Amino acid sequence: MPEIKPECSQASGPQKIFSWPYHRYMSMYRHSLEDPESFWATEARKLNWAQQWEKVLEWQPPYARWFVGGKINASYQCLDRHVKTWRRSKVAIYWEGENGETRTLSYSTLFREVNQCADVLLKLGVKKGDIVALYLPMITELPVFMLACARIGAVHTVVFSGLSAQSLGDRVNDCKAKVVVTADGGYRRGKIFKLKQTADITVNSCPSVEKILVVKRTGEDVPMVEGRDYWYSDLIDEDVHYVAPEAFEATHPLYILYTSGTTGKPKGVVHSTGGYLVFNHSTFKWIFDIREDSVFWCTADIGWVTGHSYAVYGPLSHGAAIVLYEGSPDYPTIDRWWDIIEKYSVNIFYTSPTAIRMFMKYGEEYPARHNLSSLELLASVGEPISAEAWCWYYKHIGQEKCPIVDTWWQTETGGFMIAPSPGIEPMPLKPGSATLPLPGIDVAILDAEGNELGTNQKGYLVIKKPWPGMLMDIYGDSELYKKNYWSRFKGVYYPGDYAMRDEDGYFWLYGRADEVLKVAGHRIGTAEIESSVAELDEVTEAAVASRPDEVKGEAIVLFISLKTGYKPSDDLKKAIVGHIRKNIGPIAAPDEIYFVQSLPKTRSGKIMRRVLKAVASNQGLGDLSTIEDQESVTEVKKAYEALKGCTRD
Ligand code: PRX
Repeated sequence: MPEIKPECSQASGPQKIFSWPYHRYMSMYRHSLEDPESFWATEARKLNWAQQWEKVLEWQPPYARWFVGGKINASYQCLDRHVKTWRRSKVAIYWEGENGETRTLSYSTLFREVNQCADVLLKLGVKKGDIVALYLPMITELPVFMLACARIGAVHTVVFSGLSAQSLGDRVNDCKAKVVVTADGGYRRGKIFKLKQTADITVNSCPSVEKILVVKRTGEDVPMVEGRDYWYSDLIDEDVHYVAPEAFEATHPLYILYTSGTTGKPKGVVHSTGGYLVFNHSTFKWIFDIREDSVFWCTADIGWVTGHSYAVYGPLSHGAAIVLYEGSPDYPTIDRWWDIIEKYSVNIFYTSPTAIRMFMKYGEEYPARHNLSSLELLASVGEPISAEAWCWYYKHIGQEKCPIVDTWWQTETGGFMIAPSPGIEPMPLKPGSATLPLPGIDVAILDAEGNELGTNQKGYLVIKKPWPGMLMDIYGDSELYKKNYWSRFKGVYYPGDYAMRDEDGYFWLYGRADEVLKVAGHRIGTAEIESSVAELDEVTEAAVASRPDEVKGEAIVLFISLKTGYKPSDDLKKAIVGHIRKNIGPIAAPDEIYFVQSLPKTRSGKIMRRVLKAVASNQGLGDLSTIEDQESVTEVKKAYEALKGCTRD
């Protein structure tokens, strides 16, 4: 690992830390773009294929099919190949319950549990291609069910356990899941949340669901419907040790994961088996530089893509030991995470800027109470990390000896796209920059008209070539897939982010360019909240903007105009918040609600989001010089003044 010494005392802006030529990365990157097929074929050979592919890539824009003709099994990749070696007795998962319970699973125990689980699914009639929804807390059964689905070719769709019944129902109905797996409950901040009851509310309105499997976690009584609901533990056959992993086509879907976009409903991102695994396996190694004896901890909930790619498939496909923690970062004490790092001697730690900002606020005395000397590498994901947070992380968690890898990617990309890659070659770091694109990732920054921009010019990030981890489609909505990612700029993938490339070729990511918010690292579409609020009788129209928040990054501000006859009140505010929590989940609850006479709109009827944002964040309108039409500048200014006046009341 290189010695990296940022001048964190002057952490106010981008700064260059260290500089040396990085030939290995450069030559790998060049080769990957000149001959992507041979490059990715070499990477793919690192995995265990049941059948070799015939074609590395079939590219019929905008659809990419990777390793066509190849057959592979994801659960074999993550388990069987390890239990055939000494790794059978190696720790796969150190699990830490919020209430202090612990479990340590070796690869052979995990293997047995996955096989028994696959047997249960088969007994319930789950077949290749069936969709299984996993609505579970962060317990070991969650990766077990994912790998069991993968073993038999069922497609899992994990639904974050903090999402509401309605959100679960929307997802289950969209993909027509046949089985829902949930738990009697889970622990969050010392309290039990009743997952089975929440799932019940939903499942009654989900005609596709035939069975509900319930994992015991809290031991509380839960209502069970005969013939539909089963305790998972009752179905496990202890005599089963092996269910043969069938080899599936590389293009067989491994999972669907719902994420928010600019439409009112979350969309189901479909990932392949072969391409996804190749991308996941290689990027995990490049970025985390994993060693056989590393203990790896990704704090993300498995309900999100980070948990899929880098808490489950990536580390397990490398036979790594992972930490899985069930609960809140600061419960029951503020130093819970630092305690876990010390307890398991974690070497590689992957978390989000929002968590770092929260711990910064608590103060450095909490990590200082712990021996964090096992740490070797720190990583960040989910939103831009400021130079200040980067340096705090570097100094107080990494104790000025761990590189910080800021990783830019998305649910749709399946894995890292722009990030330092110490596993290829140590490279200079700059606090706040995700540094360089990974091999195979051909990036550019465009202006609004699609012209490529030069250095130090902020614009729209695009990816010019397909990569193996790229989503295959949006489940059941190919039109949306084409429109969302491939129509903004001709022939290139548009992720929806602003970025800039500096004079060293380093990338600076500036967040979303569309109507998607990042609240505490969670991706939330403004349209989702707006359409939920519009269901209320009192509401004529609603629009969401955000304001900067010290910990969460962005806070949600809701503007609402009421129907005649309804008056703003605190009770109404509470009812609106309650409605959103019930409809989407607590993560989408607004921080502030403004009642306004009417929403600011252009003559063509479009909501002036710029005005809302300026009012929400109590800032001016900024530079209006890019708006050519002088009349609309006047219009924007007028709307801003009117709305500001209105919200002050
Ligand atoms: O805006 C970017 C931001 O998160 C978005 C993707 O969100 P999601 O699909 O939920 O995946 C999060 C985990 C991969 C991106 O479009 N984002 C993610 N990582 C970074 C980031 N923004 C800046 N820097 C990052 N490192």
